[in-house]
Amino acid sequence: MSEQGSPKILLGVSGGIAAYKTPELVRRLVAGGAAVQVVMTAAAASFVTPLTLQAVSGRPVRSDLLAPEAEAGMDHIALARWADAVLLAPATAHLIARLAHGLADDLLTTLVLATTAPVTIAPAMNQQMWLHPATLANVHRLAQHGCRLLGPASGAQACGDTGPGRMLEPADIAATMLAGVVDTERALAGVPVLLTAGPTREAIDPVRFVGNRSSGKMGYALAAALARAGARVTLISGPVHLPCPAGVSRVSVESAAEMHAAVMARVADCALFIAAAAVADYRPAAPWPAKLKKDADHLTLALVRNADILAEVAARPDKPFTVGFAAETEAIERHAREKLARKGLDMIAANRVGAAAGGFEADDNALTVLWPGGGKSLALMPKPALATALVALIAERYATSASS
Ligand code: PMT
Repeated sequence: MSEQGSPKILLGVSGGIAAYKTPELVRRLVAGGAAVQVVMTAAAASFVTPLTLQAVSGRPVRSDLLAPEAEAGMDHIALARWADAVLLAPATAHLIARLAHGLADDLLTTLVLATTAPVTIAPAMNQQMWLHPATLANVHRLAQHGCRLLGPASGAQACGDTGPGRMLEPADIAATMLAGVVDTERALAGVPVLLTAGPTREAIDPVRFVGNRSSGKMGYALAAALARAGARVTLISGPVHLPCPAGVSRVSVESAAEMHAAVMARVADCALFIAAAAVADYRPAAPWPAKLKKDADHLTLALVRNADILAEVAARPDKPFTVGFAAETEAIERHAREKLARKGLDMIAANRVGAAAGGFEADDNALTVLWPGGGKSLALMPKPALATALVALIAERYATSASS
């Protein structure tokens, strides 16, 4: 992976108050075995000195795009090629905006355009700036370009405000980066994965159905992230308006019964099962064979229970590593822990639904990921970036279970 076999992380530092935490971040990355090359924007030097970062990284800090001595050796293209991973921390609103628009007006933005290494962004800014539609649109755009987002965290800010926009703590960023650079690309190479996504439709008559608000965005983002991690993905999808992600094999179904049959026909061949679909718990007991006429003033629809696909997979003697989702409106962690235990799952990813942000239909989401004896919160971010972070966690837990 590097000259000495250590992962090479290029840390881009931009000009926000959280830059004062970067010496600690570098120290932790280096202690974790990474080689760290720091590149600073001009504004970053107002918050932390290049000399400090040079001392902790053990490498000269770079900031000039056109430095004659660097152009003869480690120029921006060489830096872009050197990196196994690029980390931007803190990433200010200005840096995020420049990257989202493909600007290349300094060394850092130029090398981000030139690199093929995965790019991780740890935003840090005032909460109002973070919540501004322009910033959220820029972040969304970067997620669509494949950038991974870490944070921001929520809490007290240097400016006196309280809210989302704090850079994650250096220990958390370093731990995620170090886990990520160890074979991020192909963490699930060749692993057969069965994944459900989208809603189900339960027929009332030939033209009407009982359905739900799932758009499939979360599940499809997961399918794409799993395929990028090298998995062989079969996606059992309810009716959605999304194209099938590259490298994924899709089986389209409509009802919970069809989804159940499609899963059970394939589950013996998968090593990992992930249930992201919003499966109807009930279906009309006796769908009308012809279009129902509106003759009656009152109509009662009798419903019967559908099979719980996830619980049935997790109860198999040859059960794959099984990951469920939980859609909750309150007491998220408590309800999700209860589902994890009751259904005998290896992991569960819980999300809040019915709130202003995240959940059904939204482009962004946040997850509380739990497993027996542990857990991790993934902050609100665009679903593609969230899916990448969730797949990294699943890959870690899957590898641990396979080796125990
Ligand atoms: O599709 P989006 O618009 O992007 O929205 C994403 C999402 C909110 C749908 C997704 O993130 C999510 O939470 N999916 C699971 C929704 C759900 O049905 O949650 P639940 O708590 O009711 O079910 C728990 C688990 O059991 C889920 O993994 C579900 O797939 C599974 N289940 C439920 C019922 C059933 N009959 N069979 C199942 O397999």
